[in-house]
Amino acid sequence: MSGGSRNTAGSASSASPIIRSHHPAGAQVTTLRLQGKRVTMRPLVPSDHAAWSEVRLRNGEWLSIWEPRRSDFIADPANDYQAFERRCAARDRERLAGSSYTLGLFIENTFAGEVNLNNVVRGAMQTGTVGYWIDRARAGHGYIAEGVAVLSRFAFEELKLHRIEVCIIPRNINSKKVMEKLAFRVEGLAERFLEINGVWEDHLRYGFTIEEWHNRKAALTQQWLIAKT
Ligand SMILES: CC(C)(COP(=O)(O)OP(=O)(O)OC[C@H]1O[C@@H](n2cnc3c(N)ncnc32)[C@H](O)[C@@H]1OP(=O)(O)O)[C@@H](O)C(=O)NCCC(=O)NCCS
Repeated sequence: MSGGSRNTAGSASSASPIIRSHHPAGAQVTTLRLQGKRVTMRPLVPSDHAAWSEVRLRNGEWLSIWEPRRSDFIADPANDYQAFERRCAARDRERLAGSSYTLGLFIENTFAGEVNLNNVVRGAMQTGTVGYWIDRARAGHGYIAEGVAVLSRFAFEELKLHRIEVCIIPRNINSKKVMEKLAFRVEGLAERFLEINGVWEDHLRYGFTIEEWHNRKAALTQQWLIAKT
């Protein structure tokens, strides 16, 4: 099909162009590790399964009411090591493709939640959507605000995006508190925006652009981050 005009056997090394990555985050995507004052964020790997599944299973309804409904036909990675391995591999591919960055959040080397940059769109938009959750036992310490500040620095300074957004169901008071702590700008209500727990839910959209990042970078760094030397 696609091989008709291609020079094949024996000539690959001389004919194939060297593919160089033009990914804006360069080599970081394979060894990604982001640091806040208290939290460390990095891609999950199969050996994280025991810790990840313990937290997910212990936090049942705390999480499920704010997440898309899980299909009965797809294995739950919390109960299935191989499904977790496949999840890790899929997230690795997405990260290497530059389409999303799914990061485990660790506090003193213990897994505590996830902070993600999804739906990265380049072209004229240069944007991405942030999602997050934390173990209820770790809630109330501003760890997610710190994680979002860390991810903001990565999105603007490494990925060179122009805008990130966070989308929140209006009754999710705890998540809105995270936005208040970071002073992200409310852009408006998107009706029936995302399927959450089986319902097309309205979402408040919070935006944050690179111009705002530059204006507020010093204060956000002082509060949440470790200044780069
Ligand atoms: C939303 C969420 C990520 C916030 O994370 P966090 O690190 O606890 O955020 P904060 O520490 O800033 O706490 C936010 C608010 O949660 C409330 N809270 C704190 N501890 C709590 C606990 N143990 N149980 C319930 N609510 C708690 C407080 O009202 C707090 O606001 P305050 O600091 O002004 O008092 C977390 O509540 C969570 O994972 N919820 C379930 C999943 C979810 O909603 N994800 C986001 C979808 S948009």
